[in-house]
Amino acid sequence: MIKTQSEGWGTRVGLVLAMAGNAVGLGNFLRFPVQAIQNGGGAFIIPYIICFLLMGLPLLMIEWTIGRYGGEKGNHSAPFMMDRMGKKRIWKYIGVFGIFSNIGIAAYYCFIESWTLAYIFHSAIGSFTGMTQNEVVAMFSSYVSLDEATLIPFEALIFFLICLTINVYILSRGLSGGIEKVAKIAVPLLILFGIFLAIKAVTLTAGSEGANFDGILGLNFLWTPTFDTISNPKVWLNAAGQVFFTLSVGMGSIQCYASYVKKKDDIALNSMSAGWMNEFVEVVIGAAIIIPLAVGYFGIDGVKQLAELGGLSIGFKTLPFLFNQWGTFLSTISGIFWFGLLFFAGITSSLAMGMPVMSFLKDEFSWSRKKSAWTFGAIVLALGLPTVFFYNFGVFDEYDYWTGTFSLFLFAMLETILFAWVFKAENGWKEFNHGADFKIPRVYKFIIKYITPVLLIIVFVASTIKPVNNDWEGAFNNLINGKGWSLDNSSVIKQALNSGLREQLENTTDPALRNELEKKILYTDGAKILLLITFFGIAYLVRVASNKRKKERRNET
Ligand code: TRP
Repeated sequence: MIKTQSEGWGTRVGLVLAMAGNAVGLGNFLRFPVQAIQNGGGAFIIPYIICFLLMGLPLLMIEWTIGRYGGEKGNHSAPFMMDRMGKKRIWKYIGVFGIFSNIGIAAYYCFIESWTLAYIFHSAIGSFTGMTQNEVVAMFSSYVSLDEATLIPFEALIFFLICLTINVYILSRGLSGGIEKVAKIAVPLLILFGIFLAIKAVTLTAGSEGANFDGILGLNFLWTPTFDTISNPKVWLNAAGQVFFTLSVGMGSIQCYASYVKKKDDIALNSMSAGWMNEFVEVVIGAAIIIPLAVGYFGIDGVKQLAELGGLSIGFKTLPFLFNQWGTFLSTISGIFWFGLLFFAGITSSLAMGMPVMSFLKDEFSWSRKKSAWTFGAIVLALGLPTVFFYNFGVFDEYDYWTGTFSLFLFAMLETILFAWVFKAENGWKEFNHGADFKIPRVYKFIIKYITPVLLIIVFVASTIKPVNNDWEGAFNNLINGKGWSLDNSSVIKQALNSGLREQLENTTDPALRNELEKKILYTDGAKILLLITFFGIAYLVRVASNKRKKERRNET
């Protein structure tokens, strides 16, 4: 048997930058602004900050601790870290989520990451020069659509392959030789690019460079807190979802990185540095690019409409056009900076999705770094191709829902219960503070024990039984009046049954639309089956690995 090299982080700066790179991602620059706009701007910020303080930070502490504690005994993947903490067999299988989410998210995340490569290329060669807004949108649509003759989205496919190859190559160089080196360059550079664009965006003035409004209006919209939606569970669910996604908690990725730190390292300080750095990049830099820029040109109502339509793709469908208003030189530079920063943000996150998978294969089956890295690439390719080919049929959103939202809520809830109630918050707190000079207020021990688990249970249950149109007040009224509870199509149960699409199909007679809906149902159901197979495949491997461990232990004695 080949002994795999024992890995570790090179330097503290490298570790913190890699962890920050893990958290700082497309979520900070694309997802956060859209969420903020859709949930009312200033109305979003308060729930967001509260979710960050009461769920985000505690989860960071929990995950860093689970990671370092597991790593001490040579466990670098969630199933066996949790197994060590929980004793009961079930925890090992709950740990499957800590591998599964990474694969599922990587499958669509790497696809967006590959768009950024294509858009860097197009910015550099001047493809956008002189394009109107509609032409920029059309270019995006054709990029993600199938070629009419061959039914292959050539360009998207090529950039996806390039992107995966870069990821696999870096992963195969290991922790300190690959991931850490990349983070040390990419994170500072993306912050610099971000600051440049943010300054440009907030100093935009009405009347100059084609702008209709001052860019700063966008910031005011975001930073003027309003309390009208504070009682709306929808805003809270979205805020919690954003906090989880942006911090990369609830997916086994932080645990994996943390399992490579040394026992004497100060994880209290390190976790807080990386976590707060992510928030700086999200609410200061991330909030100051798309929103003020788009508000400058389209006004607040225009931006709200765009957010409804575009979701993540606003950054691709409008910014190249807006940059055009700044003249050839500045627009080329800005395009390269914008898509370059997205690429750097994306790749330091997708690498973090690869590590848990690789660690599992290396630990349990003694695979080499190279072999595990290529295997990760192959799995992401297999699961990712459906998103590339059937992007327009909802496969992408299906993956995002199950792996990027549902699994996070479920896993975060269960691991917090494990940490606070099975392993016991007192032990956990001691373990977290071991070797720490940095003192975190003791009130967090209390929060971890009582508040975080309760909030996580509420968030999980609420997303499962989300009422029609996310109208909670109406739903409670109906319930009291004996009219029962009707679920929203985006509630977990209806989402699983694909009710939204099936309803639409029932209500339409137009053959073309029916055809499209039937296809969508077919592909999204297919996506669910693929994800289920992946989950159970991993669970099976965990079982094999666990039996292997038992046998080895028996042979030792
Ligand atoms: N936090 C990342 C972002 O903001 C995204 C992310 C989601 C992630 N899941 C992950 C990163 C798993 C690493 C591992 O874009």
